[in-house]
Amino acid sequence: MAVGSSPLEDLVTVPSALDHFYRGKRVLITGHTGFKGGWLSLWLKSLGAEVWGYGLPAPTEPALYSLVRAHCFQGEQEGDVTHLDALQSALENSRPHVLFHLGAQPLVRKSYAEPLQTFQANAIGTATVLEAVRLNRCATQVVVVTTDKCYENVGKAEGYRETDPLGGHDVYSSSKAAAELAVQSWRRCFFQTDPALGGVATARGGNVMGGGDYAQDRLVPDAIRSLMAGEPIPVRNPAATRPWQHVLDCLSGYLWLGAQLARSEKTSPIHGAFNFGPNPEENKPVQEVIEGILKLWPGQWNNLSVPGAPHEASKLNLSISKASSLLGWKPVWPFQTTLEKTVHWYHARHQRMDSDQAMLSFTLEQIASFEASARQQGLAWASEEAV
Ligand SMILES: NC(=O)c1ccc[n+]([C@@H]2O[C@H](COP(=O)([O-])OP(=O)(O)OC[C@H]3O[C@@H](n4cnc5c(N)ncnc54)[C@H](O)[C@@H]3O)[C@@H](O)[C@H]2O)c1
Repeated sequence: MAVGSSPLEDLVTVPSALDHFYRGKRVLITGHTGFKGGWLSLWLKSLGAEVWGYGLPAPTEPALYSLVRAHCFQGEQEGDVTHLDALQSALENSRPHVLFHLGAQPLVRKSYAEPLQTFQANAIGTATVLEAVRLNRCATQVVVVTTDKCYENVGKAEGYRETDPLGGHDVYSSSKAAAELAVQSWRRCFFQTDPALGGVATARGGNVMGGGDYAQDRLVPDAIRSLMAGEPIPVRNPAATRPWQHVLDCLSGYLWLGAQLARSEKTSPIHGAFNFGPNPEENKPVQEVIEGILKLWPGQWNNLSVPGAPHEASKLNLSISKASSLLGWKPVWPFQTTLEKTVHWYHARHQRMDSDQAMLSFTLEQIASFEASARQQGLAWASEEAV
């Protein structure tokens, strides 16, 4: 992490390979007003990047975005990812070296209420972002964020690999599988053949947690809301296992993938799909997450599983061997640390009522602590060697 202004100036650590790559680079993030977008913007700013944002207003109130906004952005544009002209103008303004496409409708249950809007935002939105890059003849490296749910879930115990068939029972999942297919076509037909264009890769992450997520129908934000209200946590699917990880673990994969795209040939497998999940032993049932949270913030939970509720896969694991062998990436924070960092964040914000300024510093300290753990573990992205 390098230095910037105000609270960013207080944190001076050893520059990492990510610092070397992103310092001075222009980076455009779609979905910068969201949960992951907020963390990614702040981390990139702390690495010394010039950060630009494109997307709809923050999807929640409160939002992490309102904490980080004043510190992060060189420029922002409100717009829909299905609007080609607006995207083209955002590209003209920002002329990004790297583009992270996160803007999407990210909730499975909402995709039952709004299937068409979900499919449009996620599948057509991704195609529109790629088309805007193609038409503008941008040399940007593009990282498209999809999900672990893009695989056809056949209930297998071992982790899904990048070569497994795409699919999706619900519209959220199939819209992300469709986004994957769009990337594959735009890559083969345009990005690989046009020397004016950069590279494109997709990132399939698991269920992330971390401070500042306020989405509805997500386990951790739902749990925190119940704890704040002094009510039992309603749990729909306690036995379902998910690949839980801290948002910073997932983002370290996105950031490192963006840097590696820039230094690899377009024919390299780096220009492909990558899973970024936890180590296999970290796939935990929902009940264990809830009980872990309650050890850190005491309260109660209720089992609300009902027959006939909208389908949600009961088992979902990711193989991370491709990211490990090709990128030298692996997860940094184990499950218990992930839970602690997450619950401490919400506790500082909503029990201790820390100010915006204090929370910004707190969030930056979590980023610095994550980087320090990664360096201790010898991860390539955290090393002092330039990319
Ligand atoms: N949070 C997770 O556990 C998780 C897991 C896997 C993948 N993802 C993916 O990561 C990305 C970010 O997710 P998040 O958790 O930060 O969600 P979020 O809801 O907090 O943020 C979504 C962002 O996209 C923007 N957006 C939504 N629809 C848009 C549209 N039509 N046009 C432009 N912008 C639009 C929102 O304004 C917001 O900035 C999504 O692509 C999501 O599918 C998230």
